[in-house]
Amino acid sequence: MTIISNLKLRIWRQDGPDDVGRFETYRIDEISDEASFLELLDILNERLISEGKDAIVFDHDCREGICGTCSLMINGQAHGPQRGTATCQLHMRKFHSGQEIVVEPWRARAFPLIKDLMVDRGAFDRIVEAGGFITAPTGGAPDANLIPIPKPVADAAMDAAECIGCGACVAACPNGAANLFTGAKIAHLNLLPQGQAERDARTEAMVETMDQYFGSCTNHGECEAACPKSISIDVIALMNADYLTAKFQNRKKLSRT
Ligand code: SF4
Ligand code: FES
Repeated sequence: MTIISNLKLRIWRQDGPDDVGRFETYRIDEISDEASFLELLDILNERLISEGKDAIVFDHDCREGICGTCSLMINGQAHGPQRGTATCQLHMRKFHSGQEIVVEPWRARAFPLIKDLMVDRGAFDRIVEAGGFITAPTGGAPDANLIPIPKPVADAAMDAAECIGCGACVAACPNGAANLFTGAKIAHLNLLPQGQAERDARTEAMVETMDQYFGSCTNHGECEAACPKSISIDVIALMNADYLTAKFQNRKKLSRT
């Protein structure tokens, strides 16, 4: 274990959506390089509480990279300096003694700030809600191998399903676009046989809901670089192709009703 010493933290504090907010500076004398970044904030919060001050509000839950709740912009990088890693999996060994660390919330119009480092990512829920349900037979669970799926297709669907809905892609995007998130959510169903029945309706509804809240994608690729699950921007190309098809298919279906 190595001790990291003399850290200067500049942390965004904002009492609520109507407060203008400001950076506040905190010193950490010593911390183990084995501590996680969220543990650093825990230790700081314990100190603030013992001094009778307000703890810093930040989102977290599983602390093992699966829930998508943690969401910090660290030194200008969504989830910090380690690629393919959520904030909760980032450790202090990635920093050095004497370093200044700037911590901010996700900054995107679609994610309004709640307090300090916590934002409302409900716009993601609206996109998923718009996708609706897939047709599924009721009764007992069918055998897993009842519907043969080629391995590359299953792998691609599973890769897309890895999206944890953290919002780093939106925070990193200069346009505040949610195309990587929406593309991942659409791809993991559209690639599989079980997702075909509602494919066109789901794609159209999800893309058009996304457009109501988020900016437009101009292929910067910042989303892929920031994604803790390394979701490929290929899912955006898939989504765009599926959306075009869906517009024609849905219009054709409408003309027949
Ligand atoms: S695509 Fe990646 S960055 Fe975007 S919400 Fe999903 S896991 Fe997070
Ligand atoms: S707290 Fe669950 S992914 Fe970070």
